[in-house]
Amino acid sequence: MSGTQLPEVVPASGMPASVTIWEVGARDGLQNETTVLSAQTKIEFINRLAATGLPIVEATSFVRPEWVPQLADAEDVMAALPLDEAVRYPVLVPNLAGLERADAAGVRDIAVFASATETFAKKNLNRTLGEQMNMFAPVIQEAKARGMSVRGYVSMCFGDPWEGVVAKSQVVSVCGQLLAAGCDSISLGDTIGVATPGQVHELITDVTRFVDIAALAVHFHDTYGQALSNTYAALQAGVTTVDSSAGGLGGCPYAKSATGNLATEDLVWMLDGLGIATGVDLASLVQTSRWLADELGRPSPSRVVRALS
Ligand code: HMG
Ligand code: MG
Repeated sequence: MSGTQLPEVVPASGMPASVTIWEVGARDGLQNETTVLSAQTKIEFINRLAATGLPIVEATSFVRPEWVPQLADAEDVMAALPLDEAVRYPVLVPNLAGLERADAAGVRDIAVFASATETFAKKNLNRTLGEQMNMFAPVIQEAKARGMSVRGYVSMCFGDPWEGVVAKSQVVSVCGQLLAAGCDSISLGDTIGVATPGQVHELITDVTRFVDIAALAVHFHDTYGQALSNTYAALQAGVTTVDSSAGGLGGCPYAKSATGNLATEDLVWMLDGLGIATGVDLASLVQTSRWLADELGRPSPSRVVRALS
């Protein structure tokens, strides 16, 4: 990769010295691929991601297998991961049935995934907005009692394909419910990738009136090419945890207008350039995404993967 390295810089004032990348490619990415990979290939993907220096590699989902057949092998995947090591391998859990499966598989970190809108709650969870917390609250409580950490995703924070622009008050309300139920952290999801930096700044300002900025993450899909700009706005607002997916894989099977997540390579390239530490080795991440693209039979949508290939 000679000739492509940026000069060493120190973070601009107001920017964090380091960022924690929450890698979601093996979950958010693979849940939306038409090619269903073998458990063995998923395990190799996750191990390779961890070896690049990523501290958190979201591994799979313990959802109803009929809803997301791509991740129906969650038990097999978790059984092969080195769960006692420093890397964390969180999984999605919607309900108590999922929690029992995750616990039996040795999972220590879970994430519930609430919706900010009525329509997506129904389509993604088969619950109304009012009902979703009846499902999540016991999961959060029980997971905490068992010593697990619990992240609360909030989906459709900026726009919804059926309902249009989403009021900030709806997002703030769901964040409040997740925190009241015991979540340790919140990730604000732009599920369909429509947000712009001004909106990001405004929502974070509202949410951080009661959510500690250290407990807040951002999760941008890149449908309109704004994910990196939105991340920059979030960093300026003080956020230090950013979700992304290797190679820009991703989408949501229950929101067809959602395309891939912010690519981890694009994020690392920007953060390296800003002098913000991530601990991630970009060259080996690019190699991993190129290998996975071959397995999936389609090129990576990440600009940085293509540029460095
Ligand atoms: P439901 O159909 O209403 O299920 O699904 P139910 O509660 O009526 O239960 C029916 C049967 O399913 C029962 O079996 C349960 O035991 C079984 P029966 O008694 O009839 O024999 N069942 C399960 N089996 C295994 N594991 C389970 C489980 N749960 C129930 N966990 C449910 C409700 C929430 C389960 C379903 O809607 C579901 O699985 N949804 C998940 C959808 C999903 O994974 N979407 C993608 C992730 S969200 C996302 O990508 C957004 C995010 O990235 C952030 C962003 O981008 O904004 C996070
Ligand atoms: Mg997502």
